[in-house]
Amino acid sequence: MEDKNTNVKAEEGKATVKRIAVLHIPGEEPIELPILSGTEGHDVIDVKQLGTHGYFTYDPGFLSTASCQSKITFIDGEKGILLHRGYPIYELAMKTSYLEVCYLLLYKELPNEEQLEKFKSKIRYNTMVHEQLPKLFQAFRRDSHPMAIMCGIAGALSAFYHDEINNNNPRDRELVAIRLLAKIPTLAAMAYKYSEGEPFMYPQNHLSFTGNFLHMMFATPCEPYVVNPIIEKAMDRIFILHADHEQNASTSSVRFAGSTGANPYACIAAGIAALWGPAHGGANEACLRMMETIGSVKNIPKYIAKAKDKNDPFRLMGFGHRVYKNYDPRATVMRDTCHEVLKELNITDHPLLDVAMELERIALEDPYFIERKLYPNVDFYSGIILNAIGIPTSMFTVIFAVARTIGWISHWCEMQEDPSSKIVRPRQLYTGYPTRSVKPIGER
Ligand code: SDX
Repeated sequence: MEDKNTNVKAEEGKATVKRIAVLHIPGEEPIELPILSGTEGHDVIDVKQLGTHGYFTYDPGFLSTASCQSKITFIDGEKGILLHRGYPIYELAMKTSYLEVCYLLLYKELPNEEQLEKFKSKIRYNTMVHEQLPKLFQAFRRDSHPMAIMCGIAGALSAFYHDEINNNNPRDRELVAIRLLAKIPTLAAMAYKYSEGEPFMYPQNHLSFTGNFLHMMFATPCEPYVVNPIIEKAMDRIFILHADHEQNASTSSVRFAGSTGANPYACIAAGIAALWGPAHGGANEACLRMMETIGSVKNIPKYIAKAKDKNDPFRLMGFGHRVYKNYDPRATVMRDTCHEVLKELNITDHPLLDVAMELERIALEDPYFIERKLYPNVDFYSGIILNAIGIPTSMFTVIFAVARTIGWISHWCEMQEDPSSKIVRPRQLYTGYPTRSVKPIGER
């Protein structure tokens, strides 16, 4: 029985205008606005010309605003779908490696064996950082949060490659992407080693991308370090699940910075800074610390009540999402991986797993969460896996940044290649003082 679908070559689409919206403002001529359709998902109303009619759109937080066209990732929040270049996240997580996903995001197709080996080699021979860079770490207090160090160090990369980048040159863009993919893990491991007061470990070219990261994190010069294949596989899958996610706050920050023509390494530093917030990538660290604070299943009702109390700023970390109004498909894979890793590591009584599972069960039955479509997101189970494989809590968001670097740089490249790309300059609704005159100081 032939599957006819296998003969259909998936095609990238392009925006098409199938309908026209007509905006009727009392007392004014109707304004016609093109409705653009993409390959998947919502149609968008092109409001670019509204300014010429004396109006701006108003959408704080961009809840209903598309900032660009993109071919990299698609999310259907209602159905809990996440595609990278058309491939469902579940298939990528189960059938590929993080570097294959990086190749896919960057070059639009999954690599064959030869392409993957060449890509691995390019990454491998760029993992070392300039010997001056480690000296920068000395400027940080030893107890600095690793994300604070990452903000500084990633930005500092722009000082080492400032004059060689022509953002309009595809080869320069590819070199930037390779360097960032290769060096951010090295810098991330250095941030951890610095905070531990341990010596930095050089990359090891005989190890896999993820194995090398674990080696740089946990090896010491004093004895050989053997990468645990279970941990390596779990870490690689966590990298895949965090690789990209449309126009989230940190990716939009990279695009905003990149739209000015800024140095791409500095643009990635902008993404790292935005990711750090507990409403975004910082939620994984906040979620684990929340579960530690809850401590046991018997305390869960108290914290559910706090999360529902409008007068209490407490939120259930790892729950809710701007786009997903269904299960975050990454959370499903993360939960299954969590059980798999704990079993393979013979961790039968992880102190937080019971809290996590009971928190999930209660929240999914509670009308407050059901009405608001608040489901576990990518950060809900990731902390437990990271904790189980020995990653310190303060490094959770750094792990997210390592994984998301490919998403950031792929969007940066896509923006540079987009001929319609302009410097990002939102407008506003002004509610301040109308014009007034300055009085002499004696009359104020
Ligand atoms: C990531 O954008 C991305 O794609 C991000 C990300 C990626 O891969 O890049 O997916 C990664 O950032 C995941 C999200 C991680 N953040 C958290 O887990 C922090 C906890 N979640 C929330 O703070 C919140 O859900 C957000 C920030 C994620 C989304 O917030 P929104 O879309 O602005 O929604 P909202 O704050 O307006 O909330 C709507 C309602 C409110 O109640 P009402 O005013 O309607 O009564 O839901 C409530 C909120 O109070 N609510 C929560 C809640 N999240 C929302 N109440 C309790 N606990 C929560 N976690």
